[in-house]
Amino acid sequence: MKIAVIGGTGLIGSQVVNDLTAAGHEAVPHSKSTGVDVISGQGLDQALAGADVVVNLTNSPTFDEASPAFFQTSMDNLLAAAHKGGVGHFVILSIVGADQVPELDYYQAKVLQEKILAAGPVPYSIVRATQFMEFMEAVLSWTADGDTVRLPATPIQPIAAEDVANAVAQVAAGAPLNGIHNIAGPEIFSLDELGRITLSHKGDNRTVVTDPAAGMFAVVKGDVLTDKNAHLAPTRYADWLS
Ligand SMILES: NC(=O)c1ccc[n+]([C@@H]2O[C@H](COP(=O)([O-])OP(=O)(O)OC[C@H]3O[C@@H](n4cnc5c(N)ncnc54)[C@H](OP(=O)(O)O)[C@@H]3O)[C@@H](O)[C@H]2O)c1
Repeated sequence: MKIAVIGGTGLIGSQVVNDLTAAGHEAVPHSKSTGVDVISGQGLDQALAGADVVVNLTNSPTFDEASPAFFQTSMDNLLAAAHKGGVGHFVILSIVGADQVPELDYYQAKVLQEKILAAGPVPYSIVRATQFMEFMEAVLSWTADGDTVRLPATPIQPIAAEDVANAVAQVAAGAPLNGIHNIAGPEIFSLDELGRITLSHKGDNRTVVTDPAAGMFAVVKGDVLTDKNAHLAPTRYADWLS
């Protein structure tokens, strides 16, 4: 199949392109740096022409109140081009429990993205993942202050980007779900514990202080899969770290 991967130069997108290519598909990466802009619409019609599937792995440049506008405009433009080009399957990557955290602009933005897709004219699949292991570095930096890092004890079930990409590629190569496929890593930690494990592995002597009000995850009740029958990705955090 010909599969256009929008955001195909990003963390997940580049690995999805590799996975799909290895599986024998014609996966073509597109992004702003290749001349395709989901906000202005530049290059979109050409990028999606003849594609059987579109995988949208673009991300908003900020996680703040500007993020809903990014996902609104990008989805409007992408869906119009996909419909025009006769695309048969549109895949996005969202966040597990995105609809449970109305306090966060970025989570609201991802719910908006899901709603636009589901209401649109193209058969679709939504993959929802927990936080990426690769994201832990950013989480630590947000609340770092001198010798301490403040983190809440929010339950978190991190997943490796490689496992996310595998799941997205598999969904993209299959029939549209017209629904949601949830994925998570194999272990549940509390975020403060995950911070301690991460710093210790790096030989970083800073102390993690448990603070229920610290950072973005203070308002997230749990970034975990509650479905006991859910299929979990294989990579454990200790193996990913090493
Ligand atoms: N962080 C998490 O833990 C998490 C969890 C669940 C789901 N997700 C979702 O996963 C998706 C992919 O995230 P990621 O970490 O792989 O993102 P990323 O590494 O930041 O990559 C973003 C991609 O979007 C492209 N892009 C940005 N603005 C664009 C524009 N105006 N036009 C065209 N392309 C544009 C970038 O292209 P350039 O090459 O031009 O920069 C890049 O290819 C996101 O939608 C995110 O919401 C994230």
